[in-house]
Amino acid sequence: MPIYGTRPEAIKMAPIIKALEASDVLKPVVTVTGQHREMLDQVNELFEITPDFDLNIIQPRQTLNAVMAKNIAGLDEVLEEVAPEAVVVQGDTTTSTAGAIAAFNRGIPVVHAEAGLRSFNIFSPFPEEANRKITTQLASLHLAPTSVSRDNLLRETVTPEDVYITGNTVIDALYDVVDKKVPFDDPALKDVAADVEAGKKVVLVTTHRRENQGDAMRGVGRALGRLADQHSDVLFVLPAHKNPVVREAVLPFIEGKENVVVTEPLAYGQFTHLISLSNVVLTDSGGVQEEAPGLGKPVLVMRENTERPEAVTAGTVRLIGTDEERVYNEVTTLLTDSAAYNAMAAAVNPYGDGKAGDRTVSAIAELLGVGERAAEFDDGLGN
Ligand code: UD1
Ligand code: UDP
Repeated sequence: MPIYGTRPEAIKMAPIIKALEASDVLKPVVTVTGQHREMLDQVNELFEITPDFDLNIIQPRQTLNAVMAKNIAGLDEVLEEVAPEAVVVQGDTTTSTAGAIAAFNRGIPVVHAEAGLRSFNIFSPFPEEANRKITTQLASLHLAPTSVSRDNLLRETVTPEDVYITGNTVIDALYDVVDKKVPFDDPALKDVAADVEAGKKVVLVTTHRRENQGDAMRGVGRALGRLADQHSDVLFVLPAHKNPVVREAVLPFIEGKENVVVTEPLAYGQFTHLISLSNVVLTDSGGVQEEAPGLGKPVLVMRENTERPEAVTAGTVRLIGTDEERVYNEVTTLLTDSAAYNAMAAAVNPYGDGKAGDRTVSAIAELLGVGERAAEFDDGLGN
């Protein structure tokens, strides 16, 4: 039973569900919590996944404890009804940890996809660093995307045989859609595509992290407003997260400017198309940090730390924090200094090769005694 509830989990679970559907020995029963709604549904539609169970728990501005409690209570009923052989949870959201707790308490093995990511700061990202550590304690099978995440798990004395390197399924999803260059629905983005054809540069921006909400996010908004004023020949495109707290912090500083385009959350195919048109990506997203390096796009990460050091080491990702002046200066450098830009623009793929979904299913089959694991993903990091 794949269990998920937010946009990034849906994107990263889709390749696992597709591989389960293709399996001769396993069958998925798909359960979504509805922690997200519009942003979840648009991913399921794209990948043609119809959940078997949907808890629909979303409420505006609900607390983490409310999300956790509703998830565990709702999942408990579904687990009782279906009694799956195993559950699969992905990453570090509240849905993901709730799914692990609910399954563990019913004696059902937990498979953790994207296991072993660590920032080593329990408060950042909040609450995700704690969520993924809790899930590690409960899982029977730990699917590490890279050798870095495997080593984190081994350092925490997870049994080596229970850890298996798959690559990240986000790269399977990316490869599935990015070459299609899915046309944009929003007329403003059709104009952006035409402007790029004509030689304009694009800075793509996404932000939503809970620990950045408030003053830090307002500082990012102010930096974006100044950047748009200073670089009037560059387009700044922000697909805005649905969270009203995020919108209230950032949008007042940038809305209405001629070279700023604010859109609703984009369907995944359109978002990856937009990454491919962009020159610089400015983000606090986890998934975008994994996708953009594969497309050779320099990524400036608005966080103090990252649980995804692989592309930082490779030079395509730089951690810049959220200080207004720093954000302004780092973006300006990449827009004006071609040597600095070229030094960051090499494509690197430490996160996957597009086969993580199949590897995941092979490992679940082995866990359940109905198959053998495929060879591990080689991330090329030499670990
Ligand atoms: C959640 C995850 C975070 C992940 C992020 C991806 C937790 C604690 N956080 O954070 O790890 O990086 O998703 O985006 O699990 N909303 C809508 N419609 C939607 C989605 C969100 O209206 O489709 C609004 C609601 O008002 C909701 C709010 O956004 O209450 C926040 O959603 P929530 O899932 O609590 O947190 P995120 O910040 O999205
Ligand atoms: N994404 C999308 N549409 C958007 C913005 C992002 O499909 O408008 C995708 C993006 O390609 C990535 C994922 O959503 O795969 C990241 O989600 P988010 O940043 O919300 O969460 P995180 O990865 O930080 O947990």
